Amino acid sequence: MWKDIHILLLGEPQVGKTSLILSLVSEEFPEDVPCRVEEITIPADVTPEKVPTYIVDYSEADQAEYKLCEEVARANVVCLVYDLTDLGTLHQVRERWLPLVREYSMHDTMLPVILVGNKSDLITDTKMYEIMPLMNDFPEIETCIECSSKTLNNVSEMFYFAQKAVLHPTGPLYSPNDGY
Ligand code: GTP
Ligand code: MG
Repeated sequence: MWKDIHILLLGEPQVGKTSLILSLVSEEFPEDVPCRVEEITIPADVTPEKVPTYIVDYSEADQAEYKLCEEVARANVVCLVYDLTDLGTLHQVRERWLPLVREYSMHDTMLPVILVGNKSDLITDTKMYEIMPLMNDFPEIETCIECSSKTLNNVSEMFYFAQKAVLHPTGPLYSPNDGY
């Protein structure tokens, strides 16, 4: 049914979006990370679901707001990344990124979102309880995961969850009243 899947990574600066993409493709943590990487194509035969997958990075440092709008409109799923050591970046997920994704998405149905807490190598206990209120308020959040691009913990799982959210959505993504 799906020809291909576009996964877009968004979130505050420095949360580790580019590092996550580079860790996935090179299977090691990039010591020197550019602010943005070009779109990456994962061929169908190496993805668990056998669908060609494009991974798209975004950096405010490098790109204008209209580009952000275009990329959200093209995306099939958005990974909203925050930094587990800086909960201000999670606050911005609620205040800025979730509303922005709703505003710019062109679909009749809600664009699914994966919440990604990165830099888990720097914390000792899970911070999952912090995101429970968000999950309640934003039904487009399909799932959440804590990961580390440094140790590679849960990095491939994160991209797999994103694919899965497109191919096998679990939530009620259709909103008949259009009011979310
Ligand atoms: P912008 O492009 O500016 O929006 O930032 P970004 O979200 O792409 O973050 P980037 O990948 O550039 O990483 C920001 C900083 O966090 C870099 O110094 C990374 O080395 C560091 N970093 C990224 N992921 C991790 C992680 O999992 N653990 C640790 N300890 N550091 C990380
Ligand atoms: Mg970046």
